[in-house]
Amino acid sequence: MENKINELLAQVEAFNATAPAEIEDFRVKVLGKKGSLTALMEEFKSVPAEQKRIYGQRLNALKQAVLAKIAALRERAEELSAAAPQIEDMTRPGTAEQLGSRHPISLVKNEIIAIFDRLGYTVADGPEIEDDSHVFSRLNFPMEHPARDMQDTFFVEKASTEPSENDVLLRTHTSSIQVRVMERQKPPIRVICPGRVFRNEAISYRAHCIFHQIEGLYIDRNVSFADMKQSLLYFAKELFGEQTEIRMRPSYFPFTEPSAEVDVSCNLCGGKGCPVCKGTGWLEIMGCGMVDPNVLEANGIDPKEYSGFAFGMGVERIAMLKFGVKDLRLYFENDVRFLHQFDSVL
Ligand code: DAH
Repeated sequence: MENKINELLAQVEAFNATAPAEIEDFRVKVLGKKGSLTALMEEFKSVPAEQKRIYGQRLNALKQAVLAKIAALRERAEELSAAAPQIEDMTRPGTAEQLGSRHPISLVKNEIIAIFDRLGYTVADGPEIEDDSHVFSRLNFPMEHPARDMQDTFFVEKASTEPSENDVLLRTHTSSIQVRVMERQKPPIRVICPGRVFRNEAISYRAHCIFHQIEGLYIDRNVSFADMKQSLLYFAKELFGEQTEIRMRPSYFPFTEPSAEVDVSCNLCGGKGCPVCKGTGWLEIMGCGMVDPNVLEANGIDPKEYSGFAFGMGVERIAMLKFGVKDLRLYFENDVRFLHQFDSVL
C-alpha cells in the first residue's frame, strides 16, 4: 500500500499537459471507475484496522493532490487558449495589406539625381530653417532685394523690420545649400542638392507655399559656359528623351553672371506648338549661370583660380511636364487615386 501511494503521488507530481483532452484522460486514469486512485480506495477497505487511520490520511492527501493538480492544469490550459488567436477557418484568404507607392515627386527627384550621378555629382543636404546669410547675403543678394521682403519669405526670427544677416527664415530656394557646401568643401565641387523650399505665395493650381527644388553646383579650374550647356543638354535628353533640344535665354540671378533661363523643346508637340507650351514649342525648366565671382569670394574660394556653374529647377514643374499633371495642388493632397497612377512609372 505504502509503495503504491508513493508511486501514484510521484506520477501525479510529474504529470504535465496543456491540451484539455490530455488533462481529462489523466483525470479518468486516476479518478475514474477503473482509475488508479479508485483502485487504491478499494484496496483500503481490506487494510488492517490499526492501519486505517494512517492510510486513510495518506489517501485523502493523495486525492487532494490529484484534484489540485487537475484544477491547476485546467486553469493554465484556459489561459493559453484565451491568449492564442482563434482561427476558425484556416483556409480563408487573409486580408491583403494596402501597398503604398513612391510619390511622383520622389520618382522625379530620384531620376534627376540618377542622371547627375552618371556625371559624377554627389548629393548634398542643408537645413530648411536657415539664416539670411546662407539664403541671401552670401549669394550676392543686395540688402534691398525684394526676395527678402515679408511678402516672399517666411521669417522665423527677425530682430527688426530692417533686413539683417542674422534673420532666421525658411529657405526660399535650395541655392542656400551651395553656400553650405562651399563652407565645408574645397573645389573641385560637383554636387546636386534636392530639398523643400518655402515661399509666402497664395496656393493655386500653379503655385504653392511649399515646393521642391534641385540645385546643382560645379566648381573647378577652367569650368566654362560650354561645359554648363553640354551638361544641361545631356540632362534634358536623359530626362525627356533623345530628341529633346534645349535653348538658353539671357536672364538675371544675383548669384550667377552671366545667367540664363533654360527651355526644353516641348515633347508633347515636338516643337510645333501646342496648348502646353502655349504655342511656342518650348518649356522653361530651370535657371542657371556661371557662379558670380562675388559668391565665390564670399565663400572663401579664389575666383582667379576657380570658376563654376550653378543651376536650379523646380521638381513639381518638371513632374507636371513629364506626367501631364495640370494642377500643382494634387502633389500635396496625397489622394491615393492620384498617387496610384504612378505605381508603374519610372
Ligand atoms: N534659386 C533660383 C530660384 O529659386 C533657381 C536658380 C537659378 C538656381 C539659377 C541656380 C541658378 O543655381 O544658377 O528660382
